[in-house]
Amino acid sequence: MRPLIKPQNPCFSSGPTRKRPGWSCGGLNTSSLGRSHRSSYGVDRIRHLVALTRDVLEIPDTYHVAIMPGSCTAAMEAALWSLLGPCPIDFITCDVFGDLWVHDGLRELKLQNTRVFEAPPGFLPDFSDLNPSHDLVLTWNGTTTGVCMPNADWIAPDRKGLVLCDATSALFAMSFSWEKMDAVAFSWQKALGGEAGHGMLVLSPRAVERLNSYKPSWPIPRLFRLTHEGVFSKDIFEGMTINTPSLLCIEDCIDALTWCESMGGLPALIGRSQANFKAVEGWVLETPWIEFLARDPHIRSSTSICLQFTEATNDWELPKAIAALLEEEEVAFDILGHIRSVPSLRIWGGPMVETADIEALLPWITWAHKEVA
Ligand SMILES: Cc1ncc(COP(=O)(O)O)c(C=O)c1O
Repeated sequence: MRPLIKPQNPCFSSGPTRKRPGWSCGGLNTSSLGRSHRSSYGVDRIRHLVALTRDVLEIPDTYHVAIMPGSCTAAMEAALWSLLGPCPIDFITCDVFGDLWVHDGLRELKLQNTRVFEAPPGFLPDFSDLNPSHDLVLTWNGTTTGVCMPNADWIAPDRKGLVLCDATSALFAMSFSWEKMDAVAFSWQKALGGEAGHGMLVLSPRAVERLNSYKPSWPIPRLFRLTHEGVFSKDIFEGMTINTPSLLCIEDCIDALTWCESMGGLPALIGRSQANFKAVEGWVLETPWIEFLARDPHIRSSTSICLQFTEATNDWELPKAIAALLEEEEVAFDILGHIRSVPSLRIWGGPMVETADIEALLPWITWAHKEVA
């Protein structure tokens, strides 16, 4: 039967993701537009965004938080280029983005003494052999595979090496152990539904110690540079961004963060994402032809929910036809799995998505499957 109800908002893309419920362009504060980001008002707005981020994400006071140009990618690159080199490095990768950090470490920076822990899409590698005196680079949530770390218990609290974590598509939707992390990168257009192009970098005191005591042998492009004459550039982490940010994107992010606070902060955001995941999980359990790409329930992401068809695990034709039909029906936009993952559908279940919309979407997938299979 063709379902009667469509999702109120058909945006289920895994990035940029949909905006908060009730968002409108006209609701944004525009008083900083046309002003300098170095004016006291501009800097105040940047600091306000950073303060809200700290608050919502429950970042320890001793950690430093900066807005970076170039989204999560550049925030992560700044960390890789600036911090890695003085000791061996372990990489854990479970998706396309994790593979990119491995590429940059091994092929571009040509780091020595590296080990790569990797697994096929849908699995986490076995990393029981990690060495706590090595630096560690990992991606918390594999956006392209729907696999995420179950917890941080396996990271030794007294490890000597630094932990560099790509936390895009995890933060604002999952609990996160800041005390185990030293450099954390993320962008605004994932769980916050913010605008793209800006990233954030959070550094622990140990990461700052590394910046003050180690100078990489390679040149660091200005956009990645976190030190000045060998000393940590604290000003970048106090609202003096490296270059000009978009004040409109900043206002949009402040709007999202303010909504997050009004909803009850991180626990409420996690609850919303979990409810979205549970709705999908219930449907998958009763639908014989679909399954989670992540086989182990403990490592299933509640944000980038990746599903494959039991009858066509190696064939894009079915997911492509379903995604195209649902887009044509204006039921769901952009739910085809990532092109460099395996044939799949991917539904964003972050906190901006309403569970009622996910619940409305699922019968449509069942309908579309019947139509095209
Ligand atoms: C886990 C992860 N890391 C990094 C990125 C790249 O983010 P950006 O486009 O914000 O640089 C993405 C984008 O989808 C991602 O999902």
